[in-house]
Amino acid sequence: MSVETKISNKIFDNCLMNASGAKCMTFEDLSKLKNSESGTWITKSCTISSREGNPSPRYVDLKLGSINSMGLPNLGFQFYLDYVLDEHKLGNDHLFFSIAGLSLEENMEMLNKINSSDFQGWVELNLSCPNIQGKPQTGYDFERTEEVLDKIFSFYSKPLGVKLPPYFDIAHFEIVADILNQYPLQFVTCINSIGNALYIEDESVVIKPKNGFGGIGGAYIKPTALANVRMFYKLLRNDISIIGCGGVETGKDVFEHLLCGASMVQIGTQLMKEDISVFSRLLTELKTIMKAKNYKSLNDFKGKLKEL
Ligand code: SIN
Repeated sequence: MSVETKISNKIFDNCLMNASGAKCMTFEDLSKLKNSESGTWITKSCTISSREGNPSPRYVDLKLGSINSMGLPNLGFQFYLDYVLDEHKLGNDHLFFSIAGLSLEENMEMLNKINSSDFQGWVELNLSCPNIQGKPQTGYDFERTEEVLDKIFSFYSKPLGVKLPPYFDIAHFEIVADILNQYPLQFVTCINSIGNALYIEDESVVIKPKNGFGGIGGAYIKPTALANVRMFYKLLRNDISIIGCGGVETGKDVFEHLLCGASMVQIGTQLMKEDISVFSRLLTELKTIMKAKNYKSLNDFKGKLKEL
């Protein structure tokens, strides 16, 4: 049985990876991911300069997921560029490099440097961080999203995808898909956390930044994540792969993301809760489901969600 998957023309041993943000900020984090059972891995969304991020407490595990307002803490663009270039020298061109500039100019500066480097993996352009005060999520501003992609693809020539916020309205799925279909994107990742939610315990918010408002991940968001994966799988050109993210706790959750059309599945909250061994457990559970259903490869069921 094979759990191999493909994004554009590159093959991965399996369909699992971390979600950007979950245990991928430092060299030690990235080394642990490299030595794990994941099919590949992605770096923490970065900005040109390193950032401390928002004040703590800024991440809390909840029974059904998590809430965070990290505020893009990261070691700065050059650290992650050096990291992916070192991996390239070792022959690894299957990495994802997440960037989240605080302005279009900052994203252009980072992409210019990546364009002229030896990096051969994928950039995941984060259009959906909900945690920076005064910086609205680009993915919810359709005109701005188009402007950003226009500017980027006027010069950028390497493999790139976007990380989207969750959408909730059929009209919005269609508008966003029409925009994305105009550009040579290789993938979209859906979804980022459901932004600006409020969790209360003992009459108090549980995280400090933004008066307690933060992005929700984990089981709370799985149905929304699956809906976004499914809608974009149906609406986008079929050379744009979908990377599913949201609510994966078990092999069954991975299976459902694939059934909806995902080619890769990212693990965020559950990686935070369970650490690196989560990947081998999820793979074992996924293979058990596939064996029971007599599926030999992901292509036997990927995208083939039954409708009534
Ligand atoms: C953060 O660092 O605030 C999380 C990043 C994101 O949600 O995109």
